[in-house]
Amino acid sequence: MDEKTLDKIIEKYPYQAGRTLGILREIQISEKHIPMDTLKLVSEKLDTPLSDLFSIVTFYSFFSLKPVGEHLITVCMGTPCHVKGAEKILQTIQEHLGISGETEDGKFFQTTSDNKFTVEIARCFGACSMAPVLHVDGDLYGYVTADRIPKILEIYGWKR
Ligand code: FES
Repeated sequence: MDEKTLDKIIEKYPYQAGRTLGILREIQISEKHIPMDTLKLVSEKLDTPLSDLFSIVTFYSFFSLKPVGEHLITVCMGTPCHVKGAEKILQTIQEHLGISGETEDGKFFQTTSDNKFTVEIARCFGACSMAPVLHVDGDLYGYVTADRIPKILEIYGWKR
């Protein structure tokens, strides 16, 4: 993000309350992630230690330090979902999208090579009664089974 664009965002938040989160949120939406050089600029401009901003960005799952694909799939790995087979759901998604690998930086986050899908995990959506649960671009899917995964992915442009 160029400095002029960032300045315009910062101008929208003259008051302290919610300022940092609001600015970071706008950067995330605009860039689909928080570029590290932009985070450094925010740190200078708000006179806030970079480590504080880094803590915020890594704490809230809404923020990402890496670019997010066109569609974001979030698989819930909270205990009720885990017990009801979330691990199998995640594996099936990975197999269909051709991605694999382990957690990076303590955060599970994988993007397909064509940048169409990013897969991440979360701890609870508050929809445990529908476990196992996943989100795609904010759409909630409950009682998910491995068999339903292809149909769900197709809604977002995945092709068999
Ligand atoms: S544990 Fe998955 S929605 Fe609560």
